[in-house]
Amino acid sequence: MRSLLFVPADSPDKLSKALGCGADALILDLEDSVAPERKEAARAGAAAFLAQVRPLQQRPRLVVRINGLATGLSDADLDAVASARPDAVMLPKAEGGAAVVHLDAKLCAREALNGLDEGAIGIVAIATETAPALFVAGTYRGASPRLAALTWGAEDLSAELGAEASRDAQGQFLDPYRLARALCLAAAAAANVPALDTVYVDFRNEAGLRRECEEARRDGFTGKMAIHPAQVATINDVFTPSPQAVARAQAIVAAFAAEPGAGVIGIDGVMYDRPHLAKAERLLARAKAAGVM
Ligand code: COA
Ligand code: MG
Repeated sequence: MRSLLFVPADSPDKLSKALGCGADALILDLEDSVAPERKEAARAGAAAFLAQVRPLQQRPRLVVRINGLATGLSDADLDAVASARPDAVMLPKAEGGAAVVHLDAKLCAREALNGLDEGAIGIVAIATETAPALFVAGTYRGASPRLAALTWGAEDLSAELGAEASRDAQGQFLDPYRLARALCLAAAAAANVPALDTVYVDFRNEAGLRRECEEARRDGFTGKMAIHPAQVATINDVFTPSPQAVARAQAIVAAFAAEPGAGVIGIDGVMYDRPHLAKAERLLARAKAAGVM
């Protein structure tokens, strides 16, 4: 998944607008973009949208962001949407593997009640939204086979830290958020799931978004969340492996295939060893998923 667009689930207009925007996934939001008195409308909106879109042949992946486990709202959220079988549930304010195990149990119960296969609904966790979450980022590994990706967030963390800002005057994240971002990358690698970069809220600034996407890709993120349909094309563009990257990866895979016993090879005067092979294989898998191979 390269692009995941947040859509407030209490907005029928935005839901219908989101469908044609080219995002790999839509995140139907029941949490922070929905006012407390609109939660019920958002649950109904998400359930109706899932029922309408799931049967379509060509459709984005459908993720529902529920309210956090500590809010007392997450059970009603899950009850409202589970029967419509979202591809995944996004867990905000997740605090490590224990939170994923907790949500896994809730999903097992709903799947059983609705006649779904156990594990049908995946989990995407937002791993850095609270202070305690930072200290348990390393515990996602092995928590649940449902875990499909990890992502991170700066806004809730900055509120919790009592910070005045999360970015400097040039728009770069400040230290606490760079730490959160790095922890997300390491947590995802440890758990062997993709890392997805956080949102870029300045939605009219295409150059800033592109720069942030390129920095994210450079560091190992394989996709980014969006808040506005206009951001999707840029995100898809940056996170789709380029023809040059695909060609290089294919050359590395072919060279190792030609010398099965080799631990290291040279191509055009550059050394490649086993970690490069693993990286090349992952890139080719992403290229396939993006439809450019
Ligand atoms: N999904 C679907 N459609 C969206 C959208 C989104 N996330 N964001 C904007 N649109 C639609 C608008 O409704 C508008 O439609 P219209 O032309 O039919 O009126 C069109 O795209 C252009 O929107 P624009 O006028 O540029 O922005 P806006 O002021 O209407 O909306 C936000 C700005 C930030 C309120 C809106 O982008 C939004 O709700 N984003 C998602 C926020 C969210 O979910 N946050 C939680 C995660 S951090
Ligand atoms: Mg939030």
